[in-house]
Amino acid sequence: MDTGIRTDRIEKIREIVSSLLEQVPNPALRADGYVHMFGVAQACVLLAMRRGEDIELAAAAGYLHDIATYTTGSALDHAHRGAEMAKQILRESGVFSEEEIGKICQAIFFHSDKKMENGPLEEILKDADVMQHCLYDPGYVAKKEKDRYKKIRKELGIRKEKDKEKDKDK
Ligand SMILES: [Fe+2]
Repeated sequence: MDTGIRTDRIEKIREIVSSLLEQVPNPALRADGYVHMFGVAQACVLLAMRRGEDIELAAAAGYLHDIATYTTGSALDHAHRGAEMAKQILRESGVFSEEEIGKICQAIFFHSDKKMENGPLEEILKDADVMQHCLYDPGYVAKKEKDRYKKIRKELGIRKEKDKEKDKDK
């Protein structure tokens, strides 16, 4: 089935991110990088589908959003540093236009500002970041991610655990 989605572009970014992560010397950090960035990319695709936004841009933003953290081992100012790194990587990839690169990098630039609301792509990336954390460890939600997590669950029609318990008792 032709979905019209350029999976070759997504594949290209995935390959580049994989090759960068392969060079991370700390095995635990490397594994975390794969799990988190690949997981966020998939959550980005899901949210882009749900919200009718550009799936390829959302996937690229997810794959690259924490590239600064995992390749340098420091999370300090990683969103801003990551946006710069992503710009370089995306330009070298040759599969996205300058306009698209601008959109992807803007989403990465703002992704740490979870309390702020930005445009649709920024919001997809922030929500996907929260989703991956909460899907990885469903028993824990960080305080700063609570409000977004609540909204995402509502959007996706996922009910609270305690409401499900109530239904069982009926
Ligand atoms: Fe992240």
